[in-house]
Amino acid sequence: MTDGNKVKNIAVFASGNGSNAENIIRYFLKHDSQAKVALVICNRPDAPVLKRASSLGVPAVVIRKDEICCPSILMPVIDRYEIDFIALAGFLLVIPDFLISRFKGRIVNIHPSLLPKFGGKGMYGRHVHEAVVASAETETGITIHHVSERYDEGSIIFQSKIAVSPEDTPDTVARKVNELEIAHYPHVISGLL
Ligand code: GRF
Repeated sequence: MTDGNKVKNIAVFASGNGSNAENIIRYFLKHDSQAKVALVICNRPDAPVLKRASSLGVPAVVIRKDEICCPSILMPVIDRYEIDFIALAGFLLVIPDFLISRFKGRIVNIHPSLLPKFGGKGMYGRHVHEAVVASAETETGITIHHVSERYDEGSIIFQSKIAVSPEDTPDTVARKVNELEIAHYPHVISGLL
């Protein structure tokens, strides 16, 4: 196989539940043989995403908070699995600059709101949906964006919206937003590869 035809190796970085990580793994197993999830990186040894990866036969490596900023720990792992592309999916640590510059244009994140609304420090998971409901938004959604040195500020690649009604709670919003994530994130990654 020549380089141009080489199957692209994706690393998914995740910290917790891993519904997106699992969905991305399954998508490339089923629908896109041009790429595969070759590695999951997680910072918490007890995170459910580790079991999800292992049950699908994807190697997972735990890199703790104090190790992620250390090139001599992170880069050998990235190199060992010959990673071409990085998808962040609920990864709660700041991505170090050395990784961002090495993967310029090849590292993306999904955020559970319509950025620039409800982004920035402290805006993750349930906090986002609570803020959306508290400010009586009539719509919310997902944003898939390039990762830059500034949190949630890389250029936007894709957004998708859902309506929020006065009856919605943070839980119902979270469920609807997760449905959007599951429907779109793998396709967007596939289109970028
Ligand atoms: C998702 O809502 C994603 O948008 C955000 O973190 C959450 C991760 O959920 N960045 P899961 O771990 O993939 O279930």
